[in-house]
Amino acid sequence: MVLWSLRLKVAARGGSPSRVLRSMLEAKIKTMSLTPNDKLQFILGRRSIRVYAPGEVSEMAITQLLQAAMAAPSAVARDPWRFVVIRKKETLSAIAAALPNGGMLATAPLGIVVCGDLDAAHDRQLSYLLQDCSAAIENLLLCAHGLGLGACWLGVHPREDRIRKLREILQLPASVIPIAGIAIGHPGEEKEPRTRFNREYVHWEKW
Ligand SMILES: Cc1cc2nc3c(=O)[nH]c(=O)nc-3n(C[C@H](O)[C@H](O)[C@H](O)COP(=O)(O)O)c2cc1C
Repeated sequence: MVLWSLRLKVAARGGSPSRVLRSMLEAKIKTMSLTPNDKLQFILGRRSIRVYAPGEVSEMAITQLLQAAMAAPSAVARDPWRFVVIRKKETLSAIAAALPNGGMLATAPLGIVVCGDLDAAHDRQLSYLLQDCSAAIENLLLCAHGLGLGACWLGVHPREDRIRKLREILQLPASVIPIAGIAIGHPGEEKEPRTRFNREYVHWEKW
């Protein structure tokens, strides 16, 4: 849409299309860069979206989601996160049935199960693995929001029954622990940006 209107503007200007288009695109990109306030609004705009409109999630979007996830901080950069990308309806429904609060996964076009490989984690510590995977999950959720998609974190770890069922469904190797599912699709509901900021949770200098 933006490109199309730029093309029309170039034609209207009667200039050399490639040069004019390039300079207009550069100007557009400059104005699109977010101010600090916009960046905060962007973060506050990420909400759990549990209703999905029809439509697949493109391969390009899936790649971007995974790139964002794997840009997260991880202890000693060990990157113990592993991802199972699921688009088959049958598998999405099986996982939805295994997660008491994850029924909406059956209605989503895409699920990503974020796992951690204990053998790859710093000092083989579960705590590092969980922190690393959680950082990756939040990055992925923010990326989904940035792409105009809707997503929701579905709790798996530390519920033993959920872990066991996901291990079975996804045929995970012994050292790989499923941490969370993420349901992703085109948003079928709208939510206001918000923070749950609470002054009482903040201590300055000392508790
Ligand atoms: C560890 C964890 C587990 C969660 N599990 C579920 C879940 O199983 N089902 C669900 O609908 N939402 C789940 N959520 C999403 C929370 O319910 C949601 O983030 C919270 O209500 C705040 O709303 P917001 O994400 O819109 O800001 C989970 C979130 C976290 C961090």
